[in-house]
Amino acid sequence: MIAPFSLPPAPVHDLTSQQSSNNLKFNTRKQEKGLIVLGIETSCDETGIALYGSERGLLADALYSQVEIHAEYGGVIPELASRDHIRKTLPLIQQVIDEAGIKDADIGGVAYTAGPGLVGALLVGASVGRALAMGWGVPAIGVHHMEGHLLAPMLEADPPEFPFVALLVSGGHTQLVRVDAIGEYEVLGESLDDAAGEAFDKVGKMLGLPYPGGPHVAKLALEGEAGRFKFPRPMINRPGLEFSFSGLKTFVRNTIAEHADADGKLEAQTRADIAHAFQESVVSTLSIKCSRALEHTGLQRLIIAGGVSANTRLREVLEAAVAKVDGRLFYAKPKYCTDNGAMIAYAGCQRLLAGQTSDLAIEARPRWSLESLPPIHHSESSEQS
Ligand SMILES: Nc1ncnc2c1ncn2[C@@H]1O[C@H](COP(=O)(O)OP(=O)(O)OP(=O)(O)O)[C@@H](O)[C@H]1O
Ligand SMILES: [Mg+2]
Repeated sequence: MIAPFSLPPAPVHDLTSQQSSNNLKFNTRKQEKGLIVLGIETSCDETGIALYGSERGLLADALYSQVEIHAEYGGVIPELASRDHIRKTLPLIQQVIDEAGIKDADIGGVAYTAGPGLVGALLVGASVGRALAMGWGVPAIGVHHMEGHLLAPMLEADPPEFPFVALLVSGGHTQLVRVDAIGEYEVLGESLDDAAGEAFDKVGKMLGLPYPGGPHVAKLALEGEAGRFKFPRPMINRPGLEFSFSGLKTFVRNTIAEHADADGKLEAQTRADIAHAFQESVVSTLSIKCSRALEHTGLQRLIIAGGVSANTRLREVLEAAVAKVDGRLFYAKPKYCTDNGAMIAYAGCQRLLAGQTSDLAIEARPRWSLESLPPIHHSESSEQS
């Protein structure tokens, strides 16, 4: 449901070698307590706001989910999403500032999600973030939404060290990425069609579950009988690290049609058995590809991020897979797996500390490659902090 046009990208400046740029006022303050960054996430149907301090960690975060607004349509309506972000963004910013017990003047930078996502929704966070930064006289940075997801496990007490393999599994993306450092990303494989979260949501809809289907399918799967249905594991017999979930979705649809009564209804146990078989198929496909990615890269650390990484069965199966290579699995708390402001504040903070900032143009990119992001230079970051 991404809008079919793209705004011209606004450049990201590397200010490690220059202290000002054209029309940009760059005055990251040398703050005694580190750099405090306001993070704003409005790429889809959640308004996520957070304050992250380079020395103090997460100071406060707030999330408003629009799920009830979109539930009656069974999917996100972009125009409604934008309108609701407009209502919620500023009040939530005030809320986190109050909760953190800081003043506006303590905020040294603003990070907003600049893409990928719904362009109207992105523009709300980008406009508010860029304008606040200008008003406060601090730098702003447009953050890549998937970089935010990818770095969310860094918010945990025991974060992974680089390098690692990341499995990004969200509503719009399924990607395996080799991560050597922040901004040093190599996409090893991705979905050729539906994302894993999208497949969960569509199957949820077919089973008559509320939107978004992922957590509901996972819950129903707990009541399912193992082995009654065996669904295909897409693309596992082909070499490589690509994914495809649309065939599996069709298989589920056909299975439902075969077992439904004349009114199209399924028996409760059959519904649960289908949910179970579907989840097993997605989870084991993801797991096989993750093991393959670890083998291919020779790495032992695997991180999972994005909404589907909250799935308990996925975590369980991947724990077993990494144990086989003496590796370790890392993930964020469930509330930082789905969209949130904390991951954007964290990612933005790292880039601002490295001297990167976006210029005064408001940046919104519906499509944006993770691999096009600039690396950050840790050695220079100390000069800025
Ligand atoms: N426990 C779960 N099991 C399976 N799927 C889940 C679970 N919890 C959430 N999801 C799925 O995660 C997705 C939402 O995740 P997220 O917020 O990261 O995606 P998004 O922001 O919509 O997409 P993207 O990040 O690619 O733009 C939904 O598809 C939802 O169904
Ligand atoms: Mg997301």
